[in-house]
Amino acid sequence: MCGIVGYIGAEEAAPILINGLRRLEYRGYDSAGIAIGGDNVTVIKEKGRIDNLQKSVDASCPSGHWGIGHTRWATHGIPDKCNAHPHTSQNGTVTLVHNGIIENYLEIKTDLTTLGYTFKSDTDTEVIAQLFDYLYDGDAVGTMIKVSNRLEGSYAAALLVKGHEDRIFAMKKDSPLIVGRGKGENYLASDIPALLPYTKDCYIVNDNEFIELSCDDIKVYSKTGAQKKAEIKKIELSIDSAEKGGYSYFMEKEIYEQPSAVKNTVSPLIRNGKINLPFQFPENFIKNLKRIYIVACGSAYHVGMTAKYIIEDMARIPVETDIASEFRYRNPIIGKGDLCIFISQSGETADTLASLREAKNRGVFTLSVVNVMFSTIARESDGVIYTNAGAEIAVATTKAFSAQLGVSYILAAYLAHEKGLLSDAQLEAFTREISELPEKIAASLKTDEITAKLAGHISRQEHIFFIGRGIDYPLCLEGSLKLKEISYIHCEGYGAGELKHGTISLIEDGTVVAAVATDDALLGKMISNIREVRSRGAYVLAVVKEGTEGIEDIADEVIYIPSASRYLTPSLTVVPLQLLAFHATVERGCDVDKPRNLAKSVTVE
Ligand code: G6P
Repeated sequence: MCGIVGYIGAEEAAPILINGLRRLEYRGYDSAGIAIGGDNVTVIKEKGRIDNLQKSVDASCPSGHWGIGHTRWATHGIPDKCNAHPHTSQNGTVTLVHNGIIENYLEIKTDLTTLGYTFKSDTDTEVIAQLFDYLYDGDAVGTMIKVSNRLEGSYAAALLVKGHEDRIFAMKKDSPLIVGRGKGENYLASDIPALLPYTKDCYIVNDNEFIELSCDDIKVYSKTGAQKKAEIKKIELSIDSAEKGGYSYFMEKEIYEQPSAVKNTVSPLIRNGKINLPFQFPENFIKNLKRIYIVACGSAYHVGMTAKYIIEDMARIPVETDIASEFRYRNPIIGKGDLCIFISQSGETADTLASLREAKNRGVFTLSVVNVMFSTIARESDGVIYTNAGAEIAVATTKAFSAQLGVSYILAAYLAHEKGLLSDAQLEAFTREISELPEKIAASLKTDEITAKLAGHISRQEHIFFIGRGIDYPLCLEGSLKLKEISYIHCEGYGAGELKHGTISLIEDGTVVAAVATDDALLGKMISNIREVRSRGAYVLAVVKEGTEGIEDIADEVIYIPSASRYLTPSLTVVPLQLLAFHATVERGCDVDKPRNLAKSVTVE
């Protein structure tokens, strides 16, 4: 959701900025722009894809060795050229790009209008530029600090300031920003993939820090104006993970990367048949643990729901799951002694982050399951388990989801063992099964063939229902979300037992119902539900484990997944659901990796 890049060095800035923006495309955007520094700043921006911006840049060939760039995902004002970033202040003092939302922008805008400022755009961002202009006293860092004192909301902003040629300035609060250190050149980005072709040496900017970049120096200032040391960290991410590597789509590549994503995630957590967590719970914490909350958004929330089934069953600890946008405002009954788990691929989702902060304020031990290293949620949690899934570029998550499931199994086993409900031998057997999971996921990828075959029929539907029971229910929600978010087919996931309470009235001749029935204990119930929809004309697509009998007589199509223990089956079930969504979307000619209106990293609420 919005992307920022910056470059200062000996090279021409424009191609580097455009390349960086392309690497941030996956975050979601609807316009893009760059500003190239010099005696006069050149601003070029366009509505729509980066290709449009590239054409304008090629036509005007702006030359300069430092500049900033931005992909905008509209929040304030329609997606058009005028509202696209960069924005320049009325007197040309500053040109800037911004991620985040300024909550008090209308109030500041009114004040500045009274002072004679006129605004060209509808954005909250232009307010930052005009406010900087108004407060500017020749000291760029000092003025950023004064501006920040007036702003409420979230921002990561990169600025070119008149009178400070060959410098890029930046400021940050509650929106990610990273400085990349090169040799005789430095970079700025809102997200790591933009930096990967150039450097792995990064400074992760903290909230309320102010940055001054030149070719040879990275200066970091605190809110008092005092200079701080920039602690450089190495990013452990290969550039390959941000490239398509022979696949036509990132989503396809990421689906196929799931065996290694899960292996890389669970292997470091298992040692000699025991669980090896990378952090420590406080003493006697698990013994006295009464309740767990799992909070997340989107697909990560579906992982949380799945984890609830497994943790409650294995460790007998009550688990509450919440979508983060509800949790943060619902005054949850939590306190010391509870455990809150936050699941997030990006580690920057605004609602999940706010929920984490809420939990911390109430003295709860916070644990995050995060994919992006050094992200805000990871840094602010008491404990963090990284899913080492590698960079996930497609907006619709696949491999991060599977890696998060892997962590859920580990946590459930750890808690059950600590509570004495799983013996050493049982733990060893379970961790062995977890270690074998990548091979089974690879076997589940063989469903590619049948899902590709079914895609034509699926792609012509207007409505599809996913039904399942028990641990299959959250998987139905995920299968439904995956398909609807990229193919734009209307899909709903339901607990199969809930069908009778309304939804079954929507079933008519030919309605596609995907019935997920992997739990032996609930198979009989699912067969009854399948019969109910079939007798009302539904076309049933069943997803079951190998060896399930009697299903071919009652379903129109059957997808078989490898068999595994009940707790681990979600990792195998999700694969054909992802593949079905992928193939149906390709069939419909929609943008698989960048679905309309969606953003990969939702950094505003
Ligand atoms: C967006 C993405 C989803 C993701 C959700 C939560 O909606 O498109 O794929 O599940 O955000 O993101 P997070 O980074 O917190 O996992």
